[in-house]
Amino acid sequence: MWLKLIVLGLLGHHHVKAASPDQVHLAFVSSDTSQMGVIWNTYVDARQSVKYGTDQGNLNMNSADQQTPWVYNGTTRYSHRAILNGLEPETTYYYQIEDRKFSFKTMPKNPSSYKVCIFGDLGYWHGNSTESIIRKGLNGEYDWILHLGDISYDLHTNNGQNGDDFLNQLEPIISRVPYMVIAGNHEDDGANFTNYQKRFLVPDNGFQDNQFYSFDLGPVHWVGVSTENYGFYYAYGQEPVFTQYNWLKNDLDKANKNRANVPWIFSFQHRPFYCSNVNSDECQSFENRLVRTGWLDMPGLEPLFLQYGMDMGFWGHEHSYERFYPVADRKYWNGSDAYHNPKAPVYVLTGSAGCHSPDAEFTDQPWPWSAARNNDYGYSIVTVNPTSMHLVQISIDENENTVDDFIITKDAGHVNSEELRRQNPGLKFPPLQCHPKDYRCSAKYLKIVNSEL
Ligand SMILES: [Fe+2]
Repeated sequence: MWLKLIVLGLLGHHHVKAASPDQVHLAFVSSDTSQMGVIWNTYVDARQSVKYGTDQGNLNMNSADQQTPWVYNGTTRYSHRAILNGLEPETTYYYQIEDRKFSFKTMPKNPSSYKVCIFGDLGYWHGNSTESIIRKGLNGEYDWILHLGDISYDLHTNNGQNGDDFLNQLEPIISRVPYMVIAGNHEDDGANFTNYQKRFLVPDNGFQDNQFYSFDLGPVHWVGVSTENYGFYYAYGQEPVFTQYNWLKNDLDKANKNRANVPWIFSFQHRPFYCSNVNSDECQSFENRLVRTGWLDMPGLEPLFLQYGMDMGFWGHEHSYERFYPVADRKYWNGSDAYHNPKAPVYVLTGSAGCHSPDAEFTDQPWPWSAARNNDYGYSIVTVNPTSMHLVQISIDENENTVDDFIITKDAGHVNSEELRRQNPGLKFPPLQCHPKDYRCSAKYLKIVNSEL
């Protein structure tokens, strides 16, 4: 007994409170807002459950956990998942796991409008936006969080302790609002994304655990895809790329036929199709081609986005913010009405929440379809309703001031399509900006084109 106590003391905080639930957070598990998923962690085998109800003094509903032990680098953790069913809309629920108490408010049934906090690339040791995100969340300034990969730098660092610390740091807000994620390159832990797979809960419709999935929420069909299936194909094989591609094609086809009920399709992924940062491999050459247009016999993602009228895409990976004009395979529409009934998908890169390398460098010459760039630390708040999407980019460096703000509007029934683009041809890269006899200008553009194509 004494020996056991001494050993527990030496092992530190986590093992002393080994059965205490930690890293408690919420997630959407379907398109049904009467359901909410809860996921948490213990360090010992402990069957637990979520007691919940609308009366803090009488938690009269109960959901037993599904416990999954998982091992990373010799450390065993227990992932606990429970789904709360039968939730009434716009109602505050209290819930309790063992002695730990939390609460959240459900969304309206089929909400016509809501706000999402969106960002990528947020670390534990350099979580520049973390305090602001938590404070604004607790203040009710958004309804849920979407983290576009590169989570905690890294989930598996120090045998996973860094992932534990990060999720505990965010627990005050992610135990109150759903925390949705997609894997970034930093989620590769050398063990086929084990730390990512076991620590998060997402709708279970995409197979391969949580590498890709989709759900409807009010006016938006949200679809998360893994760019890491591409990025790590040499380690984990090409099969995940094909599985995801076939799933995505079917998912987008169904969503595109359901526009009358759910008018928008928004995608989220870690690596960008386009970016104007100095590291040219990621923005202009191999990585870009790999994910966007495909590589070897692996099909890329952009053709599917174009075929099924993807409205928006959110990306991380570059540690900066960049907004694009509607763009379809390097054809773009940058007129003053570009964001009204867009002719092509509109992408936003928002990967500056808090990474290890500040002051992301931009190229001197942005892509011509780049509409705004900012390399302050920060994150995005997106407000959506059936006919508009409003994005505000908040700067941490500038005391939470807004550094970009734009609105996309679309009329009922508008869907971007190849047919629409044929009727309204955009500008093609590279634009003809040189006089035919201005050889210096031509040479400059040729150089750009050659390095880009
Ligand atoms: Fe990344």
